[in-house]
Amino acid sequence: MSIKAELLPRHVAIIMDGNGRWAKQHRIVVALGHRKGVEALRSVVRYASDIGIQVLSIFAFSTENWNRPQREVSALMALILEFFASEIDELHGNDVQIRILGEKSALPDAQRQAVTAAEERTKNNKGLQLNIALNYGARDELLRAARALAREVQSGTLKPEEITASHFEAYLDTAGQPDVDLLIRTSGEMRLSNFLLYQNAYAELCFPSVLWPDFDQRHFQEALQAFAARDRRFGGRNT
Ligand code: FPP
Repeated sequence: MSIKAELLPRHVAIIMDGNGRWAKQHRIVVALGHRKGVEALRSVVRYASDIGIQVLSIFAFSTENWNRPQREVSALMALILEFFASEIDELHGNDVQIRILGEKSALPDAQRQAVTAAEERTKNNKGLQLNIALNYGARDELLRAARALAREVQSGTLKPEEITASHFEAYLDTAGQPDVDLLIRTSGEMRLSNFLLYQNAYAELCFPSVLWPDFDQRHFQEALQAFAARDRRFGGRNT
């Protein structure tokens, strides 16, 4: 498959849903579903980097995921550590720049240190920008931005009427990056679940029924092809 570069989304966001159901189908524990999900993630990141996607945002752990059973939270945290330990050399070698979306301060020490080191090591890379949402929720992100702007106003360096979209966007976790063009959520669920609510304003949405651990290059290509065929109007008219 080849899609013309100008028809590719600049920013793809993925909600990797269905690990639990995949585990159930295979009669294995949920942690192994997540582990298989990491394999799918690896190949999607490679592919996105190879074809020249500018930004890929993946939802790894939400502000609400802390409410899952402790065993599952621990398994996810362990997978996150493992992912950074095993993938960072290859990602860095492929010029991938890693950015964490969400509030890192609430992560356990080891995870916080690993992700901060990965951000630091890859910060000057010029290839794929890989956003990994960890302890992320869009409402939390928007509140953090609102607080930061309020502090600027309070300090007298900014007037409320001077707050523009670009000013606001500079305080989002995705500062400097384009809006999401294509959002993919696997497993057939059709919800945004508090993911990048500001950045998804004009995103094209794609809900393949495949469970995340089975999502492969072919499914990704199908989503990209569907995106290339969409008529995007951004509230205007394409006549
Ligand atoms: C949703 O499936 C998936 C998650 C909550 C976690 C996704 C995380 C990974 C794929 C691995 C960790 C990421 C990194 C960066 C190492 P679900 O469990 O809600 O599925 P279900 O709806 O079928 O139960």
